[in-house]
Amino acid sequence: MLYRTWGNAKDEVVDYTNSVAGDQAILDQVKLTMKAHIISLYLAGVIAKDVTKELIKSVNSFKEIKEGYEDVHEALEDHLISQTGENGGWVGLARSRNDHVSTALRLKMRNALIELLTTMLEVREAIIVKAEENKDVIFPVYTHFQLAQPSTLSHYLLYIEEEISSRWSAIFSLMPLINRSPLGAGAIVGTNLKIDRLKEAEMLGFDDLAYNTLFATGSRSDLISPVLEVANMMSSLSRIAEDLILLSSNIVDVIDLPDSHVSTSSLMPHKRNAVTMETLRAKAGTVIGEALSLLAIYKGIPSGYDLDLQEMNAHYWNVMEESTSSLKVFKSAILGLKVKRELTDSKSLSTDEAELSSIRGKMPYRQAYFEVAKRIKEGTFESNLKARDSIKMKAVIGSPNPDLITEEIKIKRNKLKEDKAKLTSFSLKIRNGLNLMKVIEDD
Ligand code: ARG
Repeated sequence: MLYRTWGNAKDEVVDYTNSVAGDQAILDQVKLTMKAHIISLYLAGVIAKDVTKELIKSVNSFKEIKEGYEDVHEALEDHLISQTGENGGWVGLARSRNDHVSTALRLKMRNALIELLTTMLEVREAIIVKAEENKDVIFPVYTHFQLAQPSTLSHYLLYIEEEISSRWSAIFSLMPLINRSPLGAGAIVGTNLKIDRLKEAEMLGFDDLAYNTLFATGSRSDLISPVLEVANMMSSLSRIAEDLILLSSNIVDVIDLPDSHVSTSSLMPHKRNAVTMETLRAKAGTVIGEALSLLAIYKGIPSGYDLDLQEMNAHYWNVMEESTSSLKVFKSAILGLKVKRELTDSKSLSTDEAELSSIRGKMPYRQAYFEVAKRIKEGTFESNLKARDSIKMKAVIGSPNPDLITEEIKIKRNKLKEDKAKLTSFSLKIRNGLNLMKVIEDD
């Protein structure tokens, strides 16, 4: 009953084109999609209730995709027919692998995004807690990787939090695009059987339809969007990883990464190599590569389903898995890092000195600036200020002054709480949809 009826495909051809190994990742979602389709056939009056139940039971018993099939969809249909006889053949009506795979991919991406977003919330929470404890710990910040002005560990941490929180909002905003149902769109123009696409969407916890049947089956742009945003986030994490590698190196030597995050050299016993951050930095490269692979495959495919689309599937999940695991490791590195010494250099106070002359001494800033610059060039610059004084003088919102950091933490905590609530209510809505299917299934 295999679809390949043009003659026996050679092993090398099947090996080359099948998606069995990759389909393992969407097995649960394919089964869910098939159950919604079976219920839909029942609601359309095509199959009787007992057949519906029998078919659903048979879907539930489908556990592994055996070798030799083109894909999970073919294997599942074969399983249904071998278990239920002729009745299994009904599932082929009003359905194509094209609308089924498209549905399963969106369901899987929805799950993967919920997991990623949950992990991002955990990282943000951890950062905020750590920021609360380090408002007075002096921390160096750089422009052009030259020591700039004194800051605090809290201020640096809250920068990271905002970087992740911005990406969180960007990624979450893509959910309504992802969470649309392609089911019922057939191979490309729908089907002659009047199935209820809206009902199918509701059963699968979708908010809306991927409306046009050509779009529903042949487009993957909605799935590419989160990958691009995730690559954006990974680039940010990679920059922080780079910071931590440099700050913990013996060149800068101001932080210690937790012991569990460093490994030593087989030859040089003194080494504390920042291996998790190096790995994260590389994985960001992998993720960017995956995003480029997707775009490069996608750009040449004529509209409508082509098997090229199947080649894209593994890239989505690689991006989501690598990024989620990177976030987890990142969180533990941040939580465990310690400031070893408060790097201070009187030159990093030169800006404060010039500002003081200008603000308090009422001197035009450029004049004050040149006076300080002259002292620096002559090697006579000194400052009575301490890094802590510098921090306390910072007067604008978002700066490292501990009082203002307290304010910033409050604001970031609130956003975190709101974001948690958004994700919880989104997940709950999905669960309600899926429960509806359970009710019909168990009826
Ligand atoms: N396995 C395919 C995929 O993952 C779906 C099958 C579509 N095949 C076809 N001949 N239309 O994209």
